[in-house]
Amino acid sequence: MSGIRPTGFLHLGNYFGAISNYVKMQEDFDCFFMVADLHSLTTHPDTAALKANVHRVLAENIACGLDPDKVAFYCQSHVHETAELYLYLNMMAYKGELEKTTTFKEKVRLNPENVNAGLLTYPVLMATDIILHRAKYVPVGKDQEQHLEMARTFANRFNHRYGDVFPEPLAFNYNQSLLKVPSLDGEGKMSKSENQMATLYLADSDDMIRKKVMKAKTDSGPTEKNAPKPDYIENIFLLMKLVCPAETVGKFEDDYNNCVIRYGDLKKQLAEDMVNFIAPIRSQVDAILQDEEGLKQIMLKGAEKANTSAGETMKLVREAMGLNYF
Ligand code: TRP
Repeated sequence: MSGIRPTGFLHLGNYFGAISNYVKMQEDFDCFFMVADLHSLTTHPDTAALKANVHRVLAENIACGLDPDKVAFYCQSHVHETAELYLYLNMMAYKGELEKTTTFKEKVRLNPENVNAGLLTYPVLMATDIILHRAKYVPVGKDQEQHLEMARTFANRFNHRYGDVFPEPLAFNYNQSLLKVPSLDGEGKMSKSENQMATLYLADSDDMIRKKVMKAKTDSGPTEKNAPKPDYIENIFLLMKLVCPAETVGKFEDDYNNCVIRYGDLKKQLAEDMVNFIAPIRSQVDAILQDEEGLKQIMLKGAEKANTSAGETMKLVREAMGLNYF
Protein backbone atom coordinates (compact mmCIF):
# COMPACT_ATOMS: atom_id res chain seq x y z
CA MET A 1 0.00 0.00 0.00
CA SER A 2 1.20 3.47 -0.73
CA GLY A 3 -0.19 6.98 -0.97
CA ILE A 4 0.58 9.66 -3.50
CA ARG A 5 -0.02 13.33 -2.70
CA PRO A 6 -1.94 15.13 -5.47
CA THR A 7 0.47 18.04 -5.75
CA GLY A 8 2.54 19.13 -8.71
CA PHE A 9 3.64 17.33 -11.81
CA LEU A 10 5.56 14.06 -11.89
CA HIS A 11 9.18 14.20 -13.01
CA LEU A 12 11.80 11.73 -14.14
CA GLY A 13 12.91 11.17 -10.53
CA ASN A 14 9.41 10.09 -9.53
CA TYR A 15 9.27 7.82 -12.56
CA PHE A 16 12.51 5.92 -11.92
CA GLY A 17 12.18 6.16 -8.13
CA ALA A 18 8.67 5.53 -6.90
CA ILE A 19 6.53 4.60 -9.88
CA SER A 20 8.76 1.97 -11.46
CA ASN A 21 8.76 0.30 -8.03
CA TYR A 22 4.91 0.35 -7.96
CA VAL A 23 4.71 -1.02 -11.48
CA LYS A 24 6.92 -3.93 -10.51
CA MET A 25 5.04 -4.55 -7.28
CA GLN A 26 1.72 -4.87 -9.08
CA GLU A 27 2.99 -8.12 -10.62
CA ASP A 28 4.10 -9.62 -7.30
CA PHE A 29 1.60 -8.39 -4.68
CA ASP A 30 -1.99 -7.48 -4.01
CA CYS A 31 -1.56 -3.70 -4.17
CA PHE A 32 -3.45 -0.63 -2.97
CA PHE A 33 -2.33 2.72 -4.36
CA MET A 34 -4.13 5.78 -3.10
CA VAL A 35 -4.34 9.42 -4.06
CA ALA A 36 -3.97 11.21 -0.71
CA ASP A 37 -6.50 13.98 -1.35
CA LEU A 38 -7.52 14.26 2.32
CA HIS A 39 -3.95 14.69 3.45
CA SER A 40 -3.63 17.70 1.17
CA LEU A 41 -6.38 19.45 3.18
CA THR A 42 -4.02 19.70 6.15
CA THR A 43 -1.95 22.27 4.28
CA HIS A 44 -4.16 23.29 1.32
CA PRO A 45 -7.71 24.00 2.60
CA ASP A 46 -8.64 25.63 -0.72
CA THR A 47 -10.04 22.81 -2.84
CA ALA A 48 -10.49 24.71 -6.11
CA ALA A 49 -7.63 22.89 -7.86
CA LEU A 50 -8.11 19.53 -6.15
CA LYS A 51 -10.17 17.81 -8.84
CA ALA A 52 -7.72 18.67 -11.62
CA ASN A 53 -4.79 17.61 -9.44
CA VAL A 54 -6.39 14.28 -8.56
CA HIS A 55 -7.12 13.62 -12.24
CA ARG A 56 -3.54 14.44 -13.16
CA VAL A 57 -2.05 12.11 -10.55
CA LEU A 58 -4.28 9.30 -11.74
CA ALA A 59 -3.48 9.91 -15.41
CA GLU A 60 0.28 10.27 -14.89
CA ASN A 61 0.62 7.11 -12.84
CA ILE A 62 -1.47 5.09 -15.28
CA ALA A 63 0.51 6.44 -18.25
CA CYS A 64 3.66 5.27 -16.44
CA GLY A 65 2.33 1.73 -16.24
CA LEU A 66 0.22 1.47 -13.11
CA ASP A 67 -2.68 -0.75 -14.13
CA PRO A 68 -6.07 -0.11 -12.44
CA ASP A 69 -7.11 -3.65 -13.42
CA LYS A 70 -4.20 -5.17 -11.51
CA VAL A 71 -4.21 -2.93 -8.43
CA ALA A 72 -6.73 -0.95 -6.40
CA PHE A 73 -6.01 2.62 -7.52
CA TYR A 74 -8.36 4.91 -5.60
CA CYS A 75 -8.93 8.24 -3.89
CA GLN A 76 -8.63 8.46 -0.12
CA SER A 77 -11.86 10.46 0.16
CA HIS A 78 -13.83 7.67 -1.54
CA VAL A 79 -13.11 5.29 1.33
CA HIS A 80 -15.22 6.51 4.24
CA GLU A 81 -13.95 3.85 6.62
CA THR A 82 -10.79 5.94 6.65
CA ALA A 83 -12.57 8.52 8.80
CA GLU A 84 -13.78 5.88 11.26
CA LEU A 85 -10.44 4.15 11.79
CA TYR A 86 -8.69 7.54 11.96
CA LEU A 87 -11.00 8.45 14.85
CA TYR A 88 -10.17 5.29 16.79
CA LEU A 89 -6.44 5.63 16.17
CA ASN A 90 -6.53 9.24 17.33
CA MET A 91 -7.48 7.98 20.80
CA MET A 92 -4.23 6.01 20.78
CA ALA A 93 -1.91 8.72 19.54
CA TYR A 94 -0.34 10.97 22.13
CA LYS A 95 0.08 14.70 21.73
CA GLY A 96 3.73 14.47 22.76
CA GLU A 97 4.77 11.94 20.13
CA LEU A 98 2.84 13.77 17.42
CA GLU A 99 4.46 17.09 18.27
CA LYS A 100 7.89 15.52 17.95
CA THR A 101 7.35 14.50 14.31
CA THR A 102 9.89 16.15 12.01
CA THR A 103 7.41 16.98 9.24
CA PHE A 104 5.02 18.55 11.78
CA LYS A 105 7.72 20.80 13.20
CA GLU A 106 8.74 21.79 9.68
CA LYS A 107 5.18 22.66 8.68
CA VAL A 108 4.65 24.70 11.84
CA ARG A 109 7.78 26.64 11.02
CA LEU A 110 6.71 27.28 7.43
CA ASN A 111 3.10 28.08 8.17
CA PRO A 112 2.64 29.20 11.79
CA GLU A 113 -0.87 30.61 11.20
CA ASN A 114 -2.40 27.26 10.18
CA VAL A 115 -1.33 24.75 12.84
CA ASN A 116 -4.53 22.70 12.75
CA ALA A 117 -5.28 19.40 14.50
CA GLY A 118 -5.26 17.59 11.16
CA LEU A 119 -1.69 18.68 10.62
CA LEU A 120 -0.72 17.34 14.03
CA THR A 121 -2.40 14.01 13.33
CA TYR A 122 -1.14 13.69 9.74
CA PRO A 123 0.84 10.54 10.73
CA VAL A 124 -2.33 9.05 12.25
CA LEU A 125 -4.17 9.48 8.97
CA MET A 126 -1.28 7.94 7.07
CA ALA A 127 -1.19 4.99 9.50
CA THR A 128 -4.93 4.62 8.91
CA ASP A 129 -4.45 4.44 5.12
CA ILE A 130 -1.98 1.62 5.55
CA ILE A 131 -3.52 -0.54 8.24
CA LEU A 132 -7.03 -0.13 6.82
CA HIS A 133 -5.95 -2.79 4.32
CA ARG A 134 -3.78 -4.61 6.85
CA ALA A 135 -0.89 -3.89 4.48
CA LYS A 136 2.51 -5.45 5.12
CA TYR A 137 4.70 -3.57 2.66
CA VAL A 138 4.78 0.14 2.04
CA PRO A 139 6.93 1.46 -0.82
CA VAL A 140 8.01 4.92 0.38
CA GLY A 141 11.05 7.14 0.21
CA LYS A 142 13.32 8.13 3.08
CA ASP A 143 11.25 11.22 3.88
CA GLN A 144 8.36 8.99 4.99
CA GLU A 145 10.31 6.65 7.24
CA GLN A 146 9.37 8.40 10.46
CA HIS A 147 5.69 8.35 9.51
CA LEU A 148 5.93 4.66 8.75
CA GLU A 149 7.56 3.99 12.09
CA MET A 150 4.66 5.78 13.75
CA ALA A 151 2.25 3.60 11.76
CA ARG A 152 3.98 0.56 13.27
CA THR A 153 3.65 2.09 16.73
CA PHE A 154 -0.09 2.71 16.31
CA ALA A 155 -0.71 -0.73 14.84
CA ASN A 156 1.15 -2.41 17.70
CA ARG A 157 -0.60 -0.25 20.27
CA PHE A 158 -3.98 -1.24 18.87
CA ASN A 159 -3.00 -4.92 18.88
CA HIS A 160 -1.87 -4.75 22.51
CA ARG A 161 -4.93 -2.92 23.69
CA TYR A 162 -7.65 -4.74 21.74
CA GLY A 163 -6.17 -7.89 20.20
CA ASP A 164 -4.22 -8.81 17.10
CA VAL A 165 -5.76 -7.27 14.01
CA PHE A 166 -2.88 -5.56 12.19
CA PRO A 167 0.42 -6.79 10.77
CA GLU A 168 3.43 -4.47 11.19
CA PRO A 169 3.82 -2.40 8.03
CA LEU A 170 7.39 -2.34 6.70
CA ALA A 171 9.11 -0.11 4.16
CA PHE A 172 9.63 -1.85 0.84
CA ASN A 173 11.60 -1.46 -2.35
CA TYR A 174 13.29 -3.82 -4.75
CA ASN A 175 16.71 -2.20 -4.73
CA GLN A 176 18.65 -1.58 -1.56
CA SER A 177 18.10 2.11 -1.93
CA LEU A 178 15.78 3.89 -4.31
CA LEU A 179 17.35 5.11 -7.52
CA LYS A 180 18.10 8.80 -7.33
CA VAL A 181 17.83 10.72 -10.58
CA PRO A 182 20.31 13.62 -10.60
CA SER A 183 19.19 17.09 -11.61
CA LEU A 184 20.57 18.74 -14.75
CA ASP A 185 22.54 21.43 -12.92
CA GLY A 186 24.78 18.99 -11.09
CA GLU A 187 23.23 19.93 -7.72
CA GLY A 188 21.30 17.19 -5.96
CA LYS A 189 18.44 15.28 -7.51
CA MET A 190 15.35 16.17 -9.54
CA SER A 191 12.71 17.70 -7.35
CA LYS A 192 9.17 19.05 -7.55
CA SER A 193 9.91 22.15 -5.57
CA GLU A 194 13.49 23.20 -6.25
CA ASN A 195 15.13 24.22 -9.54
CA GLN A 196 12.43 23.53 -12.16
CA MET A 197 14.79 24.13 -15.10
CA ALA A 198 17.04 21.33 -13.81
CA THR A 199 14.15 18.86 -13.53
CA LEU A 200 12.52 17.04 -16.44
CA TYR A 201 8.76 16.71 -16.01
CA LEU A 202 6.65 14.11 -17.78
CA ALA A 203 4.50 17.04 -18.93
CA ASP A 204 7.37 19.01 -20.52
CA SER A 205 7.03 19.73 -24.25
CA ASP A 206 9.66 18.38 -26.65
CA ASP A 207 11.21 21.83 -26.98
CA MET A 208 11.28 22.33 -23.22
CA ILE A 209 13.05 18.98 -22.78
CA ARG A 210 15.64 19.95 -25.41
CA LYS A 211 16.13 23.36 -23.83
CA LYS A 212 16.67 21.91 -20.35
CA VAL A 213 19.06 19.19 -21.51
CA MET A 214 21.12 21.60 -23.62
CA LYS A 215 21.54 23.84 -20.56
CA ALA A 216 22.99 21.01 -18.45
CA LYS A 217 26.32 21.88 -16.90
CA THR A 218 29.47 20.62 -18.73
CA ASP A 219 33.03 21.89 -19.20
CA SER A 220 35.71 21.89 -21.89
CA GLY A 221 36.29 18.14 -21.53
CA PRO A 222 38.95 15.92 -19.99
CA THR A 223 42.62 16.57 -20.78
CA GLU A 224 43.96 13.23 -19.57
CA LYS A 225 42.95 9.80 -20.83
CA ASN A 226 40.68 7.70 -18.59
CA ALA A 227 40.30 10.55 -16.11
CA PRO A 228 37.64 10.29 -13.40
CA LYS A 229 34.49 12.24 -14.25
CA PRO A 230 33.46 15.32 -12.28
CA ASP A 231 30.07 14.89 -10.54
CA TYR A 232 28.08 16.94 -13.05
CA ILE A 233 29.47 14.87 -15.96
CA GLU A 234 28.87 11.62 -14.08
CA ASN A 235 25.27 12.78 -13.63
CA ILE A 236 24.79 13.33 -17.36
CA PHE A 237 26.05 9.81 -18.03
CA LEU A 238 23.66 8.52 -15.39
CA LEU A 239 20.77 10.21 -17.18
CA MET A 240 21.94 8.74 -20.50
CA LYS A 241 21.93 5.26 -19.01
CA LEU A 242 18.26 5.70 -18.13
CA VAL A 243 17.02 6.54 -21.61
CA CYS A 244 19.73 5.96 -24.26
CA PRO A 245 20.63 2.63 -25.93
CA ALA A 246 23.71 0.96 -24.40
CA GLU A 247 25.76 1.49 -27.60
CA THR A 248 25.18 5.23 -27.43
CA VAL A 249 26.35 5.38 -23.83
CA GLY A 250 29.34 3.18 -24.69
CA LYS A 251 30.36 5.40 -27.59
CA PHE A 252 30.38 8.53 -25.41
CA GLU A 253 32.18 6.69 -22.59
CA ASP A 254 34.93 5.82 -25.10
CA ASP A 255 35.04 9.38 -26.41
CA TYR A 256 35.39 10.63 -22.85
CA ASN A 257 38.17 8.21 -22.02
CA ASN A 258 40.01 9.16 -25.23
CA CYS A 259 39.57 12.90 -24.61
CA VAL A 260 37.63 13.40 -27.84
CA ILE A 261 34.21 13.87 -26.31
CA ARG A 262 32.01 16.67 -27.66
CA TYR A 263 29.50 17.59 -24.99
CA GLY A 264 27.34 19.47 -27.49
CA ASP A 265 26.81 16.24 -29.45
CA LEU A 266 26.27 14.25 -26.29
CA LYS A 267 23.58 16.62 -25.07
CA LYS A 268 21.86 16.66 -28.46
CA GLN A 269 21.73 12.88 -28.40
CA LEU A 270 20.53 12.80 -24.79
CA ALA A 271 17.87 15.41 -25.58
CA GLU A 272 16.50 13.34 -28.48
CA ASP A 273 16.43 10.14 -26.45
CA MET A 274 14.73 11.99 -23.59
CA VAL A 275 12.11 13.32 -25.99
CA ASN A 276 11.56 9.80 -27.31
CA PHE A 277 11.13 8.55 -23.76
CA ILE A 278 8.89 11.30 -22.38
CA ALA A 279 6.73 12.27 -25.40
CA PRO A 280 4.69 9.01 -25.55
CA ILE A 281 4.02 9.18 -21.79
CA ARG A 282 2.95 12.81 -22.10
CA SER A 283 0.52 12.11 -24.91
CA GLN A 284 -0.95 9.19 -23.02
CA VAL A 285 -1.49 11.41 -19.97
CA ASP A 286 -3.32 13.89 -22.21
CA ALA A 287 -5.48 11.16 -23.71
CA ILE A 288 -6.45 9.84 -20.26
CA LEU A 289 -7.26 13.36 -19.03
CA GLN A 290 -9.50 13.97 -22.07
CA ASP A 291 -11.61 10.93 -21.20
CA GLU A 292 -13.54 12.09 -18.11
CA GLU A 293 -15.89 9.12 -18.21
CA GLY A 294 -12.94 6.73 -18.32
CA LEU A 295 -11.38 8.47 -15.31
CA LYS A 296 -14.64 8.19 -13.42
CA GLN A 297 -14.82 4.46 -14.12
CA ILE A 298 -11.23 4.01 -12.94
CA MET A 299 -11.97 5.82 -9.68
CA LEU A 300 -15.20 3.85 -9.13
CA LYS A 301 -13.45 0.55 -9.70
CA GLY A 302 -10.62 1.52 -7.34
CA ALA A 303 -13.03 2.71 -4.66
CA GLU A 304 -14.98 -0.53 -4.89
CA LYS A 305 -11.86 -2.65 -4.30
CA ALA A 306 -10.65 -0.41 -1.47
CA ASN A 307 -14.10 -0.32 0.15
CA THR A 308 -14.33 -4.11 0.17
CA SER A 309 -10.95 -4.48 1.82
CA ALA A 310 -11.60 -1.64 4.30
CA GLY A 311 -15.00 -3.09 5.19
CA GLU A 312 -13.45 -6.43 6.11
CA THR A 313 -10.83 -4.79 8.31
CA MET A 314 -13.37 -2.55 10.06
CA LYS A 315 -15.49 -5.53 10.97
CA LEU A 316 -12.46 -7.02 12.75
CA VAL A 317 -11.66 -3.67 14.35
CA ARG A 318 -15.15 -3.14 15.76
CA GLU A 319 -15.25 -6.68 17.10
CA ALA A 320 -11.81 -6.38 18.69
CA MET A 321 -12.77 -3.06 20.29
CA GLY A 322 -16.07 -4.40 21.60
CA LEU A 323 -18.11 -2.03 19.46
CA ASN A 324 -20.31 -4.82 18.14
CA TYR A 325 -23.43 -4.39 20.30
CA PHE A 326 -25.74 -6.57 18.28
N1 TRP B 1 2.57 11.09 3.44
C1 TRP B 1 2.87 10.59 2.14
C2 TRP B 1 3.70 11.63 1.37
O1 TRP B 1 3.76 12.75 1.77
C3 TRP B 1 1.62 10.26 1.35
C4 TRP B 1 0.81 9.18 1.99
C5 TRP B 1 -0.45 9.32 2.50
C6 TRP B 1 1.18 7.82 2.16
N2 TRP B 1 -0.90 8.12 2.98
C7 TRP B 1 0.09 7.17 2.78
C8 TRP B 1 2.33 7.08 1.83
C9 TRP B 1 0.12 5.82 3.10
C10 TRP B 1 2.37 5.74 2.14
C11 TRP B 1 1.28 5.11 2.78
O2 TRP B 1 4.27 11.33 0.35
